[in-house]
Amino acid sequence: MTEKGHLPSHIAIIMDGNGRWAKHRGFARFRGHREGAESVREITRECAKKHLKQLTLYAFSQENWKRPQREIKLLMKLLKDFLIKERKEINDNNIRMTAIGRISELPEDVQRELAITMEGSKNNTGMVLCLALNYGGRTEIVDAAREIAKNVRNGKISLEEITEDTFKKYLYMSNMSDPDLLIRTGGDMRVSNFLLWEISYTEIWVTPVCWPDFRKAHLEEALKEYTRRERRFGGLRE
Ligand code: IPE
Ligand code: IPE
Ligand code: MG
Repeated sequence: MTEKGHLPSHIAIIMDGNGRWAKHRGFARFRGHREGAESVREITRECAKKHLKQLTLYAFSQENWKRPQREIKLLMKLLKDFLIKERKEINDNNIRMTAIGRISELPEDVQRELAITMEGSKNNTGMVLCLALNYGGRTEIVDAAREIAKNVRNGKISLEEITEDTFKKYLYMSNMSDPDLLIRTGGDMRVSNFLLWEISYTEIWVTPVCWPDFRKAHLEEALKEYTRRERRFGGLRE
């Protein structure tokens, strides 16, 4: 049981609504993505200042490959630019960058910049910034199940050793704590294949605000709401 009033130590965000933000203003979808990158900067900085343990951002889902080639290319370019430009800010804020998802299927130049940013920040001791890239929650579970099956076949582990705790070790980030708070911008009430295993007891907060408009004040609102929640984990109030 967690007392009310605590701040979350891990926040995960489904950064949605970039396209709608642009459409409302008569802009091309790309403008929404570009402006969304500004929100990423501001929210990351704010979370680091609050000494959060981890911020996990859903930046590109496995399903997002269904989008037009042109949009995918622009998103990858934005991601690459972000990784290059933000290196200094990431290090200045003592942030350690990591990633989850099938990274090896991303364009090679993006993989390269990601590796450089991760390597350059690996000794930082502050907040972990985890980008979900080419991420799918079901695939993460399937990938873990395959690895476990392999190890059972090799005799490295026994069937009895497969518990929730060991299963967790086979997920993309084995040492990640479950998110305490999941924020979705853009108003849709769904999880869109994000962190399916990890959010089993996460508090969910959905806002109609589109991601490019989501700034410090909205984060504060989410945190305020979170501190009002009583997390019972199936138990009873004392
Ligand atoms: C989220 O915004 C960004 C990504 C999924 C990469 P969208 O592009 O999904 O914006 P909407 O949902 O169409 O408004
Ligand atoms: C979720 O947004 C994925 C990311 C924010 C990266 P989508 O726009 O892809 O989700 P759906 O299609 O509305 O479920
Ligand atoms: Mg969307």
